[in-house]
Amino acid sequence: MISSGVGQSGLIFEEALIFEKGSPGRVGYSLPPMDVPETKIHNLVPPSLQRKELPDLPEVSEIDVVRHFLRLSQWNYSIATGLYPLGSCTMKYNPRVNEQVARLPEFAHAHPLQPEELCQGILLLIYELEQHLAEIAGLDRVSLQPAAGAQGELAGMMMIRAYHAAQGNPRRLVLVPDSAHGTNPSSCSLSGYSTKALPSNARGLIDPAEVRKSMNEEVAAMMITNPNTLGLFEEEIIEICQIVHSHGGLVYGDGANLNALLGIARPGDMGFDLLHLNLHKTFSTPHGGGGPGAGPIAVRAALAPFLPVPVVEKEGNRFRLNYDLPASIGKLRAFHSNFAILVRAYAYLLSLGAAGLRRIAEMATLNANYLRTQLAPFYHIPFNRLCKHEFVATDQVQQGFGVKTLDIAKRLMDKGFHPPTIYFPHIVPGALMIEPTESESKESLDQFIAAMEEIAEEAQRDPSSLTSAPHLTKVSRLDEVRAARELDLRWKGK
Ligand SMILES: Cc1ncc(COP(=O)(O)O)c(C=O)c1O
Repeated sequence: MISSGVGQSGLIFEEALIFEKGSPGRVGYSLPPMDVPETKIHNLVPPSLQRKELPDLPEVSEIDVVRHFLRLSQWNYSIATGLYPLGSCTMKYNPRVNEQVARLPEFAHAHPLQPEELCQGILLLIYELEQHLAEIAGLDRVSLQPAAGAQGELAGMMMIRAYHAAQGNPRRLVLVPDSAHGTNPSSCSLSGYSTKALPSNARGLIDPAEVRKSMNEEVAAMMITNPNTLGLFEEEIIEICQIVHSHGGLVYGDGANLNALLGIARPGDMGFDLLHLNLHKTFSTPHGGGGPGAGPIAVRAALAPFLPVPVVEKEGNRFRLNYDLPASIGKLRAFHSNFAILVRAYAYLLSLGAAGLRRIAEMATLNANYLRTQLAPFYHIPFNRLCKHEFVATDQVQQGFGVKTLDIAKRLMDKGFHPPTIYFPHIVPGALMIEPTESESKESLDQFIAAMEEIAEEAQRDPSSLTSAPHLTKVSRLDEVRAARELDLRWKGK
């Protein structure tokens, strides 16, 4: 009997690597017979550039390829599959209209080297998106170049350095709260700054007294995420910004959590001087698996001379790319950056309008508070008060039964949910950081609550069902340390 070659459970296929499929000589194309004389390869490619051996590429047909990738995609989990409560990631639904607009041939097939006169529509979109984002941020100018939040941070820190350097002293230090995302201190360090971590107070917030104590003329900036990674609004933000400014420092805003503020409050009005926005979070774009994304940086007018080049300028009814910014930090990203993400964000903004954007923040906050209050009887919630778009629970109660945050996260997969962000922020031991977003209906929130309640109950009754979870996924627990330390993605052939 010929083996099927794939393990199978009902219609859920096991899937071999693409290299293990196909057979020698099988191809996925059919070309017409040659209508020119055959030429030896060494007449075309110098021997030094020729391979000695053929690469070990898969020899597969078109249907092999289509089935392979479709099956893999069906093992995946996405926001189109179900609730994806990954805290500080804002995994929201991506309306299909954005996808359609991004696929319009005029956008999708535009050549990145098209001359300005032939891409006026593209430049108009970039210009208008900049204007909308500046308005939302409460700041003056925006560069859409950074390709991720982390690159937006890097651009911002480089601009801060350039700004201070232009005044004679780039300064040395950046203050970063201990609840910050790891990219914050990394961006400082890549820009040549040392960082000082400021401890959060008992309410999970930045303490103005700590800022006052640490602020001096050596400090270039303070980086602040508001709402912070505990989902809490920094109540003293105005005073904190004033303290930083009073010593000539700048306030950098990590806008990863902007979903909570849209249309309600503007970071620029609070005193922030720069802010990156994550289009792939707040402004809907399919993300995960590493991108692509966009992390535009918004700044006050005083920082505009340092923006990355080019900037789009409007002259009459025409748009042009301006590279003539002598103090610019330079070019960050090729061509028009991740342009398809910009198109999606533009479509999202226009389709929602100002009232729709405000509704996002209201619903995201309502959903997070609903989950928080419903989970509070079963899980320890260290800052159990009104939150913004997300909140943090812990495994403190379940640890009494030998169950940890990792076990809770793994068991959630058996219940059909993507786990929340875990063990972050670091200041909360065993953190489960939950962000439902505005996309979820009450029914889907209730299903998640029921799953979390079941897990809390299983922890008491049958802890081993959690410590050995997941049971229903393709693979159960991996050796995650080994997978991270000895990652090997190469195909070694036969
Ligand atoms: C609070 C915070 N800041 C910055 C980032 C970095 O953003 P990106 O992943 O787009 O580089 C993240 C990413 O999750 C984040 O949660």
